[in-house]
Amino acid sequence: MIRELRPGDLDAIARLFHETVRAINCRDYTPAQIAAWAAPELDADYFRTRLTGTRTVVAEDAGQVVGFANLTSEGLIDFLFVHAERQGEGIASRLLAPLEDIAATTDVDELWTNASITARSFFLARGFTEVAAQTVECRGEMFRNYRMSKRCEK
Ligand SMILES: CC(C)(COP(=O)(O)OP(=O)(O)OC[C@H]1O[C@@H](n2cnc3c(N)ncnc32)[C@H](O)[C@@H]1OP(=O)(O)O)[C@@H](O)C(=O)NCCC(=O)NCCS
Repeated sequence: MIRELRPGDLDAIARLFHETVRAINCRDYTPAQIAAWAAPELDADYFRTRLTGTRTVVAEDAGQVVGFANLTSEGLIDFLFVHAERQGEGIASRLLAPLEDIAATTDVDELWTNASITARSFFLARGFTEVAAQTVECRGEMFRNYRMSKRCEK
């Protein structure tokens, strides 16, 4: 089931984020990068702040949060994370679809994201184009990621 964010989801979202970064993104980034990315201060309050004012969708299965994604008013897909044990089941695709639908009804012309190395293939498979490879700093570590975009269907 894909639904909108509820306040009670924030603990589960923070936990999922940390577990997925540590278990999945560790394939593409160093231990030091993973430690900086999944820093302990990224708790439920952090996610409340980051997700407030964005359109956030949650994938729920058997009462458990198994993924989440959000869209800002600028067309940015800021987060897209799927539970480490539920990869490759189509959950991210199901999270992206309603965000594309929302964007289509707004004045946003283009969806864009800063895709991790891990997520780059997913976004290519979903019709995004790579705009630029980037090196960005996060809590003292340098990260390779990819600016990717997709025209909104209106
Ligand atoms: C990227 C991510 C969200 C994809 O989630 P998912 O639920 O496994 O993806 P889906 O099953 O919906 O889609 C997979 C599609 O992308 C393709 N794909 C290619 N490489 C892929 C990859 N590394 N991971 C997932 N899908 C990939 C699959 O072939 C599939 O296409 P298809 O439907 O045409 O067969 C997930 O791997 C994840 O949580 N990664 C870690 C967090 C992350 O890096 N998030 C992005 C931050 S910018």
